Amino acid sequence: MSKEHKLSPVHVNHQVTWSGFYKKSLRERQTQLKLVFPQVFTSSTPSSVFSSVYVTPDTSPCSSPISVDFSSKTNDQNTPSHSVLNNNNEINYLINKLETLETLSNKKLFPINGLDENIADNMIENCIGTIGLPVGLALNFIINGKPIIIPMAIEEPSVIAGVSGSAKTISAYNGFKATTTERNTIVAQVCLLDISQENMDFAVEKIMQNKSEIIKTANKYCDNMVKRGGGVFDINARIISRKANRNRKHYPINSDNFTEWLVVHITIDVCNAMGANCASTVAEGVAPFLAELTGGRIGLRIVSNLNVERMSKASFRIPLHMLAYKSLSGKEVAARIIEAYEWAEVDPYRATTHNKGIMNGIDAVALATGQDWRAIEAAAHAWACNGVRTDRDNFQSNGSYGSLTTYWIEKDEQLATSGKPDDECLMFCGELELPITVGTAGGVLKTNQVYTYNLGIMGNPNAQELAMSMVCIGLAQNFAALRALATEGIQRGHMSLHAKNVAIAAGCPANAVTSIAQRMIEKGKITLSSAKNFIEIYMNEQADIGKNLLSNSLKIEDKLEKVCDNLTTLSSQVQCHIN
Ligand code: MEV
Repeated sequence: MSKEHKLSPVHVNHQVTWSGFYKKSLRERQTQLKLVFPQVFTSSTPSSVFSSVYVTPDTSPCSSPISVDFSSKTNDQNTPSHSVLNNNNEINYLINKLETLETLSNKKLFPINGLDENIADNMIENCIGTIGLPVGLALNFIINGKPIIIPMAIEEPSVIAGVSGSAKTISAYNGFKATTTERNTIVAQVCLLDISQENMDFAVEKIMQNKSEIIKTANKYCDNMVKRGGGVFDINARIISRKANRNRKHYPINSDNFTEWLVVHITIDVCNAMGANCASTVAEGVAPFLAELTGGRIGLRIVSNLNVERMSKASFRIPLHMLAYKSLSGKEVAARIIEAYEWAEVDPYRATTHNKGIMNGIDAVALATGQDWRAIEAAAHAWACNGVRTDRDNFQSNGSYGSLTTYWIEKDEQLATSGKPDDECLMFCGELELPITVGTAGGVLKTNQVYTYNLGIMGNPNAQELAMSMVCIGLAQNFAALRALATEGIQRGHMSLHAKNVAIAAGCPANAVTSIAQRMIEKGKITLSSAKNFIEIYMNEQADIGKNLLSNSLKIEDKLEKVCDNLTTLSSQVQCHIN
């Protein structure tokens, strides 16, 4: 057994471990990740380095709190007793020690570093390269009582700070509650055309009567899922009314004798996969049998990305006073957030921006963990149409577009009966529910090892756990945005973070970005031209420092030469004296 396998997981004092993470350098953060998640990062660090750190008696190996909490595998009875990392000095000591050891043993590149271009070349057509995005960690999340670190890939400043900030408030009380569906399902659609209206009911009946035969046939096209305990388990038929073409110039070339279409829904349990490919294979495979049963002509056969069978919900509930901000009371801030939410409910212009903020969070986790974020986006916006939400059984989208989140204030009955004043019994509540179709098993995840590392940081969640984390991120992001917008606005905080991007765009060398951004913030002028000015000043300063260093080193060299001369004289005198 190699040494790192002997490492016993210890419980990390979650809050302590991650506090001040944002103040560390990129390299220190990467080193901290290796320390906190040794199981995830061992292959990127020579085992001798790990064992040297871990054998130190006053330092403790540690593991992901999530892998301890989410996976029963690591909770086994044989695990030796755990120690706890309790203060930041210990963590910083470990980071330093690991960094020194790694430097000595030729540190490899940190493995969260994008996609190999030779793999990319095999993934798409006409490949010309790859594109990078920053990956950061959302902190302070406690979901269903368990702490979790959530990687996010996003270029927009403020998003990670925003979600971590609102998660801190929410987790300081009871944290997030999240739920999701028990089964990980997906729907495949087969559209059957050219069924006359008088035959339509008969066709539907045929489908319903032959459900088990259809399921049996369809399962032949997803035998892998069946082997894993999933597979097709339900069939439904819907009648869709045709509409006139939206473009009035349209010249019809297909028959308009048929006013309705028969759409068959095939529901598949895809275990831990996202399942889109599986659904489309099943749809294509079973379509001829459906056509034979109904007498219809086969139309499109494809997965549906509106998956109302895979709903995930996040919620939180905090006392009003926790929302107090500067001179504003918690009650005032709560009232403003409710107004902001109510605006998004009725105005699609505002709702689009409101929901874009939610997707800032959800998409970033989707990108970091290798999910089909376009599918998640499309489903979220369809769900935001009231027609879909309120008419779930009919699945007809005909309503207006509104907020995906809901906020309300409620009285805590327990507090109310304890005789507290009314205001102290009020709770601010937020909720986000939407369909999220994700997978943590399947081919695409293997294309980029970054996904494996990011999922590892999350404790290797199954598809449901990943969906729950994503919906919590979405809620946290929306709460952060509304809280900021309803109080001081977002531009001050946003621009401070944006300053670094402006400095980079102005051609600032990487080691000077923080300093140039800071100068622009202090001057209150975050523009390209001001960045260029400060870069020029900075470069001149560096040149002066360089000149001073050079002249100092020349002086030192001079002095050393004299010392050498003196020593030579002294040594010849000593030699003479001896002789
Ligand atoms: C910016 O990316 C997202 C926000 O506009 C969301 C919102 O307005 O609610 C801040």
